Amino acid sequence: MEKIILLGNGGHAGSVTDSIKQLGQYEIAGFVGRAAAETNGAGFPIIGTDDDLKAIYDSGIRTAFVAIGYLGEGNARERAYGKLKQIGYRLPHIIDPSATLADGAQIGEGTYVAKGAIINVNSHVGKMSIINTGAIVEHDNVVGNFSHIAVGSVLCGNVTVGDNTLVGANATVIQGVEVGSNVIVGAGTTVRYRIESGQIYYGK
Ligand SMILES: CC(C)(COP(=O)(O)OP(=O)(O)OC[C@H]1O[C@@H](n2cnc3c(N)ncnc32)[C@H](O)[C@@H]1OP(=O)(O)O)[C@@H](O)C(=O)NCCC(=O)NCCS
Repeated sequence: MEKIILLGNGGHAGSVTDSIKQLGQYEIAGFVGRAAAETNGAGFPIIGTDDDLKAIYDSGIRTAFVAIGYLGEGNARERAYGKLKQIGYRLPHIIDPSATLADGAQIGEGTYVAKGAIINVNSHVGKMSIINTGAIVEHDNVVGNFSHIAVGSVLCGNVTVGDNTLVGANATVIQGVEVGSNVIVGAGTTVRYRIESGQIYYGK
């Protein structure tokens, strides 16, 4: 089985770990993170820090996944992506077996599709994004890179979401609406009109 390393050691990494275990396609060789502990909460070894990524690659592990969460702030996922690509790692997407992808749905490298998520016909999700548990990306949507469509949120048809955007838990973006890049949509918010890049929008 192909060996994979995971970057990140928080709750999101736990979800990704479970999906990888259930997929049965990769052997988790270990985690890379800041922690000095020898194992993480799920009992997997922590085999190094970011500084060891090149040595791990040279030891023969060529596949990695960034399992750091994203709540609309910081660029840890982007930095990790850049570092891994520079070294030469392959970054597959991980799609939990319980997720549903329709015909014509496309998913970029390093993207995670979590339990029970649905990506319907002709929707395109870019690289390094997260379509989290139970989220619905309806037909003909475009989700950019490094974005997070959080748990239980709904993008109705023909919605566009830019890069580095968080659509918060249980939020709804109605059909045809464009959400820019670097946007935070608060949990439970209904988005009915275009949101320009760089905005925080919540409580509606
Ligand atoms: C929108 C958000 C980013 C605002 O965070 P913040 O800037 O720290 O805001 P605060 O917590 O200081 O709240 C400011 C005010 O807005 C209200 N508020 C915050 N988020 C809200 C939301 N999603 N809906 C309605 N009201 C909200 C607060 O109650 C508070 O009101 P008050 O001043 O009357 O007490 C955050 O609350 C949020 O919804 N994040 C998304 C979380 C999420 O979906 N996580 C996904 C996990 S998978």
